[in-house]
Amino acid sequence: MAVKLKPIAPEQLTHNPFKLIGERWTLITAGNKDTFNTMTASWGGFGVLWNKPVVYIFIRPQRHTLGFVQRESHFTLSFFGEEHRPALQLLGSRSGRDGDKVAASGLTPVFTEMGNPTFEEATLVMECRKLFDGTFKPEDFVVENLRDTVYPNGDFHHVFVGEIVGCWEE
Ligand SMILES: Cc1cc2nc3c(=O)[nH]c(=O)nc-3n(C[C@H](O)[C@H](O)[C@H](O)COP(=O)(O)O)c2cc1C
Repeated sequence: MAVKLKPIAPEQLTHNPFKLIGERWTLITAGNKDTFNTMTASWGGFGVLWNKPVVYIFIRPQRHTLGFVQRESHFTLSFFGEEHRPALQLLGSRSGRDGDKVAASGLTPVFTEMGNPTFEEATLVMECRKLFDGTFKPEDFVVENLRDTVYPNGDFHHVFVGEIVGCWEE
């Protein structure tokens, strides 16, 4: 874990979630010291579910990161300052399947005490215990036009709910 970050309770965070995820974006990262993968996400949320502080993330089936998040018991969300926008652009436009995109991004992998991957340059990190892995189902959409616009190829997102078990901020 980056030395500059300090533990903070999720309830003490003051970020606007619309801006934090929608505008700043996040990296979803899962794996271990031997092998991990990361991808940029700008859809997601935070809140309370099952009496726990949780995050919600959405991963399309074709993402290489999906297998890592499915395999591991935990994943991390990492947030960065504006100077790292190019790295997030790169990690959100190349696949880890096609080469070492993390090296290309210039970000420095670090591992939490639990062994979960995040990045030295992050200013906010959430370590999440996976509680739920589901998939949006076509028949459950109330607005069919939305479904048909977002999923013309039927690649419905996996929906993950993660309990925030560790949180660190600058
Ligand atoms: C700003 C931005 C936001 C993104 N948000 C998501 C998202 O929420 N869910 C998703 O499945 N893909 C999202 N992507 C696409 C993945 O980050 C992208 O396909 C990435 O290359 C996947 O890498 P991987 O194959 O190594 O997992 C986003 C990309 C960008 C640039």
